Amino acid sequence: MPTSSMIQGYWRLAQWKLSPTQCLDFVKQHLDLGISTVDHAPVYGQSSCERLFGQALALEPSVRQQLQIITKCGIQGGNTDQGTVAHYFSQLPQIIQSAEDSLTRLGIEQIDIFLLHRPDLLMDADETAHVLESLQKSGKIKHIGVSNFSNSQFSLLQSRLSAPLITNQIEINPINLQATEDGSLDFLQQHNVRPMAWSCLAGGDIFNSQQPSVIRLRETLSQVQQEIGADNIEQVVYAWVLKLPAKPIPILGSGDIARVKSAVAAQQLSLTTEQWYRIWGASKGHGVA
Ligand SMILES: NC(=O)c1ccc[n+]([C@@H]2O[C@H](COP(=O)([O-])OP(=O)(O)OC[C@H]3O[C@@H](n4cnc5c(N)ncnc54)[C@H](OP(=O)(O)O)[C@@H]3O)[C@@H](O)[C@H]2O)c1
Repeated sequence: MPTSSMIQGYWRLAQWKLSPTQCLDFVKQHLDLGISTVDHAPVYGQSSCERLFGQALALEPSVRQQLQIITKCGIQGGNTDQGTVAHYFSQLPQIIQSAEDSLTRLGIEQIDIFLLHRPDLLMDADETAHVLESLQKSGKIKHIGVSNFSNSQFSLLQSRLSAPLITNQIEINPINLQATEDGSLDFLQQHNVRPMAWSCLAGGDIFNSQQPSVIRLRETLSQVQQEIGADNIEQVVYAWVLKLPAKPIPILGSGDIARVKSAVAAQQLSLTTEQWYRIWGASKGHGVA
């Protein structure tokens, strides 16, 4: 996988209220921690995240060479004035237009990893594969992947591509166990495709949710934190995700560099199989049969 061992997500960049200079500083700080891959999408901040990131890179263009930039395509927002609804797309000319708009906003020549953000129910795999490969041939994108795809959607698109789909970016955390149950992780392990794991901390719900199952989960995470000498419960969550044999690559969502540093340090921790299942059981509300 042509990425760092953890990825910095930029979905929430607009909320961080950074100037281009502060954004560039943040990029350099996570580069110093070994995180060289960044995750974007045109829909993040209604494209303002890609734009601000591009403004930050423009301040010191050499920084771009140290990064692998992921961005996506495939979600078209709705427009109430025009009476249109949000929808997915996977056809010409929208994919080409979306990639070119991202290149312009980011101020770069090539997208390192280009993902279809959501599976389009109207995807004609021959057409989508052809468009993606033409973008690759033109040098506008380097690697191709998908996000939130089912196994059959992944297989269908891969069957029409000569280039490999290098990832399926999916949600993985101990609150949402779907990927461990619907065969996604088995499928990716079988095909030696490493998932990128989004919302490892369930978007902050790990800390904030008052759902009984999450309260129970937090208690168990704290217990395991003590046992393994972790600094906080989020390190235990990252260790839980990293123990999955499909080898997920966590995408970090925090704009606080101290939290990013803490996440990076979690790569040194390891859970026993019993601890991993204790966390799983706390989320499920029961143990194994
Ligand atoms: N492909 C997709 O469909 C998809 C979907 C969602 C996300 N993503 C990608 O995945 C990345 C990560 O997702 P995410 O942002 O949901 O990640 P996350 O790590 O699950 O959640 C991040 C949120 O948790 C908060 N947080 C972190 N540590 C905390 C703590 N100790 N106490 C309280 N709050 C804490 C952060 O706030 P602070 O900033 O204040 O630390 C932030 O609001 C995104 O940036 C995006 O690149 C992809």
